[in-house]
Amino acid sequence: MNQFEFTKIAGAVLAALLLIVGTKTFIEMNVGQTPEKPGFQLPAPTAETAKPADGAAGEAGAPAAATPEAAGKEVVALLAKANAENGKSIFKKCHACHVSEKGKTPTVGPNLWGVVNRPKATYPGFSYSEAMKAKGGDWSFEELGRFLHNPKADIPGTKMVFTGLPTPSDEADVIAYLATLADTPVPLPK
Ligand code: HEC
Repeated sequence: MNQFEFTKIAGAVLAALLLIVGTKTFIEMNVGQTPEKPGFQLPAPTAETAKPADGAAGEAGAPAAATPEAAGKEVVALLAKANAENGKSIFKKCHACHVSEKGKTPTVGPNLWGVVNRPKATYPGFSYSEAMKAKGGDWSFEELGRFLHNPKADIPGTKMVFTGLPTPSDEADVIAYLATLADTPVPLPK
């Protein structure tokens, strides 16, 4: 190897080293730096933006309202005009898992006789999920509206495997029907 070749090789090795060390230093200088403020702020949902657009109500089975809160309020507003007879036929979907006659032994889900205003997860002899037991409160019309809109979104971890009813008006009708399943039917909001 002559002097010239040696210089070339040494030069190449040095250049490679410089590249490695330089890159490493550059990376070290830049990692661990988190910007104090995110580049842009996502808008927080407000009552206005959370509302579904008119006419978008649950077409093609898509959940109509963006949040369980909005869904609950929307359904309560529809109760005054709800049709319990139609609710009874929609209830066939529920019947796969729920009985609704007074005193009847629960099947897959708890017996729904008297469910409106009943404290959650309290039907005797039914084994509820931890999530349902932890939720607390009563099955008010609004809470039923939230839950039936999208059970898993309202109570993550519920063992009610049901995607939710397709439209707020179906929900209102079913809830109006549930209100009749009691010794003294629960009056609907006017
Ligand atoms: C695939 C079975 C299934 C279907 C279909 C179903 N449910 Fe349920 N439901 C359950 C189960 C299981 C639970 C208990 C959930 C838990 O413990 O997390 C439940 C719980 C409930 C509760 C809470 C009751 C309580 O005692 O706290 C209500 C209300 C309810 N369902 C209403 C309905 C309605 C109304 C429909 C029809 C629109 C329906 N469910 C369809 C299985 C089902």
